[in-house]
Amino acid sequence: MKISNTLFATFAATAITLTASAAKPEIMQLGAANTLVRITEPGKFLIMPVQESMPDQKVDILVNGKVQQTIFVRLADSNIDYSVPLDLTPYTDKGEVLLNITSEVDCTHSRQASNFVCWENMEISDEFDTANTEKYRPAFHHTPLYGWMNDPNGMFYKDGVWHLYYQYNPYGSKWQNMTWGHSSSTDLVNWEHHPLAIEADGLGTVFSGSAVVDEKGTAGFGDNTVIALYTGAGASQIQNMAYSHDNGETFTKYPGNPVIPNRDEARDPNMFWHEPTQQWVLVLAHALEHEIQFYTSPNLIDWTLQSAFGKGYGAQNGVWECPDLFELEVEGTGEKKWVLIVNINPGGPMGGSAAQYFIGDFDGKTFTPDNGPEVDKWMDWGKDHYATVSWSNAPDSRRTVIGWMSNWQYANEVPTKQFRSANTLPRDLSLFRGPDGDIYLKTVPSPEVSALRGAVKSYGKSTVGEKARSYTIPALCELEIGYDLMGCRALDLTLSNAEGEKVVMTINADKHEFLMDRNHSGHTDFSAHFPAVTTAPMLTDSDNGRLRIFIDNSSIEVFDADGRFVMTNLVFPESPYTTLSVSAAGGKARITSLNVFSIN
Ligand code: FRU
Repeated sequence: MKISNTLFATFAATAITLTASAAKPEIMQLGAANTLVRITEPGKFLIMPVQESMPDQKVDILVNGKVQQTIFVRLADSNIDYSVPLDLTPYTDKGEVLLNITSEVDCTHSRQASNFVCWENMEISDEFDTANTEKYRPAFHHTPLYGWMNDPNGMFYKDGVWHLYYQYNPYGSKWQNMTWGHSSSTDLVNWEHHPLAIEADGLGTVFSGSAVVDEKGTAGFGDNTVIALYTGAGASQIQNMAYSHDNGETFTKYPGNPVIPNRDEARDPNMFWHEPTQQWVLVLAHALEHEIQFYTSPNLIDWTLQSAFGKGYGAQNGVWECPDLFELEVEGTGEKKWVLIVNINPGGPMGGSAAQYFIGDFDGKTFTPDNGPEVDKWMDWGKDHYATVSWSNAPDSRRTVIGWMSNWQYANEVPTKQFRSANTLPRDLSLFRGPDGDIYLKTVPSPEVSALRGAVKSYGKSTVGEKARSYTIPALCELEIGYDLMGCRALDLTLSNAEGEKVVMTINADKHEFLMDRNHSGHTDFSAHFPAVTTAPMLTDSDNGRLRIFIDNSSIEVFDADGRFVMTNLVFPESPYTTLSVSAAGGKARITSLNVFSIN
């Protein structure tokens, strides 16, 4: 699509009011379930009304009788939930645009289809309003301007810019029409939105993948070309290549696609340059086989399958997706280990989707795990952290990751409309040895996140018992809490609002576990899978610690300040939580420091 940057930037600011004089397309009802929409007036967008409870209708976009693109849209029958824009500018110079819409809705006579409210409410317009007033839209997490988002993917860093692509439906807020959306940032906190980067073609929709900066031009498209590999999801799942000469703004698909023609479900290719063997390595999720395949290539085009790892290892009760592989240092030791991330759905420890990882060695061809098959390790212990992968080419040898902040159990049902889903805060990884001597991922908020800190209210040391101590907190905040359990049984940190909705976080001293109970957190009834108590092993023997808790309009992320555990959960309170209450059970505990930062 050719929506310009400047246009996208202005979207947020302009609210359009569709006036009676707004141009209308010409509607022609054919059979019971077939409608033609002819664009006879000039305009940048066709605004299409959506009703989420409707099934998808197939929209073939024709110019001079030839199908240019096919999309699926839940066109509104009786009630308009929101509208989505179809960008007409790619076709403006080619001829008249005609949409041939077929519906699988059971329309027994033609009057039924022609009664759909979508027809009279379709508009041709030069503007589309992306101003979002929904209360659950995050204030400091990455979200699409509108529409559905899942996996972050294809992330790379180049010339001071962090590029973030994501699985995107531009034509509705439920999963469909997979496309690579694109955002970028110079500080990992403020995101600029770009036009669609890679769209579906005759080989399928565009599933997850990765991108690298081909510094030496090994693929034959010149030095420093950005090369993306993604899964083409049509009748089969195949791995396709696309290259970009404008730093990932637009991509050209490689004419020889697919570069890896798989026979069964294999997806989400993730590649990197392996310095010791001077070749490209690619990890691919052999989804239903619960294994990761390892390929190598001299040129990002010709790939050789070298080995596979995973059968019988770690969590197996779901499809394996979105892998990543990289080397990290065990902090302070000089020892290096390889980390293989494997996202799994369902089969996560809290139900549904989750990100597991394996620690081991990699020689350029084969991954050898440190642990036995029975060991499960998890990146995040909440319910809403999935498809986490890292930025390629990040500066200063950083390994920075971001995850999709939702869960396939209910992602399509969460109580938002104009957009659905956000990403986690960016996180930086390293390794540490746990109390059991084993090696684990250490996860902390990326240093850039500290720039979000605004005005702070600091409280001195205090001792708490059963009677709770309460503090007023702003709707958007970071809470930094130091604690000493001093032999108590449990420390409770409760967030609550005027409606009596609450989230109870508990440090269980005996087990060194951290729990978050969102059963009474607000709106929870949109899915039986949503109410939950999530539990994290704290991987420490110590009774002292510090937490960093980030509260946005519909999410809570808890980081152990030393990176030993993370917990990410969505919440949908009727109004923001305004109170933090702290109490201890089975003895007294000490709050050694409390800083309440409002978010800039
Ligand atoms: C993971 C996933 C990927 C796939 C993408 C499709 O959430 O299922 O395996 O590429 O989503 O949108």
